[in-house]
Amino acid sequence: MSKPRILVTRAIFPETLVKLAEHFEVESNQADDIWTKHELMAKLQGNVGAFTFGLERIDAELLAACPQLKICTNMTVGYNNFDLPAMTAAGVIGTNAPDTLTETTADFGFALLMATARRVTESEHFLRAGKWKSWRFDMFAGSEVHGSTLGIIGMGKIGQAIAKRGAFGFGMKVIYNNRSRLEVATETACQARYVSKTELLQTADHVMLVVPYSAESHHTIGAAELALMKPTANLINLARGGIVDDAALAAALNRRQIAAAGLDVFEGEPSVHPDLFNVPNIVLTPHIASSTVPTRMAMANKAVDNLVGFFLNGKAVSALN
Ligand code: DGY
Repeated sequence: MSKPRILVTRAIFPETLVKLAEHFEVESNQADDIWTKHELMAKLQGNVGAFTFGLERIDAELLAACPQLKICTNMTVGYNNFDLPAMTAAGVIGTNAPDTLTETTADFGFALLMATARRVTESEHFLRAGKWKSWRFDMFAGSEVHGSTLGIIGMGKIGQAIAKRGAFGFGMKVIYNNRSRLEVATETACQARYVSKTELLQTADHVMLVVPYSAESHHTIGAAELALMKPTANLINLARGGIVDDAALAAALNRRQIAAAGLDVFEGEPSVHPDLFNVPNIVLTPHIASSTVPTRMAMANKAVDNLVGFFLNGKAVSALN
């Protein structure tokens, strides 16, 4: 019997391709070309599975052009590239990679928090530019991390992992806001107190955003919310572009309405709002919060498990629909 045909839409670890090849006839985009939607539709012809990266828009138009497609497996946790109602209507399963990147992403949240609060990249640029001539009492004086108040918006698994780092690692007071309040036992395990979004913005020294993107969470932080924050506060966006109004953030940083920001995700990425480049008190990284080799490998393995589960065992391991 011939093996099911799978398209891997971007470059991936050679080890992942070896695993896939045990069960599937695999075509992979190891050149890592960025395909247009119509190129993707052409490449998908004849394939029953797509190994995807959270970037490819899977919607009614694509599904109508690829009637043989049965499953799209994101190796990412986020799946806002999937139009799930359209996929369900077309009988196509979507899967993601839950529980693969929680701790790694929480670590990176702290990398951005520390880098912004303690002005790591700003001072490094100064040093590299040969501007360091002597010690000075207020040179790159930043804000305190230990003992400060950490406000987390979005208290899912990553939010909880960040809360534990803050409470137990840095002795921070942790407050959070979420669509629904957590159970008391979970709050206790995270040493986190539920507050309104307004109270969180008004009192936190560091605001960490980890909410999933949806129409509802679009611009969770805009000009009005930035105006509520302390002038000494720090904002970290680990979640998705579009959760923050990047233009409003650049304006707030420029007028020192808040002290600093760390962004791993951007509205319309990989484009970055040009105003953000002109702000010194900001740390910008290219959507790498989950990027360690073991974690990216675990994410890829989850996508393989989903394809194997679906085609060989009759059930994807983390189906979304
Ligand atoms: C995810 O998995 O959703 C991440 O944002 C990709 O690194």
